[in-house]
Amino acid sequence: MTAELLEHRPQSTLDIAGNAADVIADLFYWMVAGGAVIWLAVVGLSLYGYRERSLLSPRAARRLVIVGGVIVPLVVLTGLLAYGLRLMPDLLARAPEGSLTVHVTGHQYWWRVRYLLSSGESIELANELHLPVGAPVELLLDSADVIHSFWIPALGGKMDMIPGHRTRLRLEPQRTGVFRGTCAEYCGEAHAWMSFPVVIHEAPEFQRWLALEGTPAAAAATPLAREGAQSFATHGCGACHSVRGTEARGTIGPDLTHVGRRISLGAGRLANELDAFTRWVAHPDRVKPSVHMPAFAMLPADELLRLSAYLEHLQ
Ligand code: CUA
Repeated sequence: MTAELLEHRPQSTLDIAGNAADVIADLFYWMVAGGAVIWLAVVGLSLYGYRERSLLSPRAARRLVIVGGVIVPLVVLTGLLAYGLRLMPDLLARAPEGSLTVHVTGHQYWWRVRYLLSSGESIELANELHLPVGAPVELLLDSADVIHSFWIPALGGKMDMIPGHRTRLRLEPQRTGVFRGTCAEYCGEAHAWMSFPVVIHEAPEFQRWLALEGTPAAAAATPLAREGAQSFATHGCGACHSVRGTEARGTIGPDLTHVGRRISLGAGRLANELDAFTRWVAHPDRVKPSVHMPAFAMLPADELLRLSAYLEHLQ
């Protein structure tokens, strides 16, 4: 999965791929229709009143204002309010017991993603969400720093991620594909660079993906990657990042166990390519202003290349 997929991730509430998005799109169309009715009533009656201004008595003119300015908007808006309120219980309902549960934590400016397994164990990754089609999923959302907002427009509504408080969101994907999730609450300088690919799989494919994601990192297979692994250890990358199956057990930054498999780097910022790793490690602040990761621009080019080779081989 590469750059090609990264570019084909529409972020439209009308590109419907989930039950909740379907309901929200219906509400949108009804609101557009209701707004059009009010607009037509106001403009129509205004034009009529203007054309007939010499014939209309003051009383008839007042009646036009009351009909177009009060009665029509009141009826239409009350209808829309009732319709909107009726949708809420369903949109806010929890997923049935035993549904897939994923805990997503917002960070400045990335996403910690943990699949909570029924066995009580969890699988951690970052900046990417994979879900099976046709099954409800319960998302547990919170934040490690400031308020973020979790939003996958194609699948459903947005939900705030609040420090010290857990919110929930139920989604149910209706079709397979790659979509774009994003942060929908201004959370700092790099807010606009805080997105993530969302991949909807057929159920068996999702299970294969999850099983592989749960395995520890493979040992470096090429000499270059082995040297990169050495560099990774020497420069203390493991103080912030975890690579399961190695000494790296940091929890401040994103888990990198299978970072080479991910579609994007830097939370939707770059396509996952060897060159992108080098750019990111040397100058993360240039790729994403005010990112918390320190720059490693002091490393010589060949060492950056070794590090990148190691990271890319973490499939
Ligand atoms: Cu996180 Cu905006």
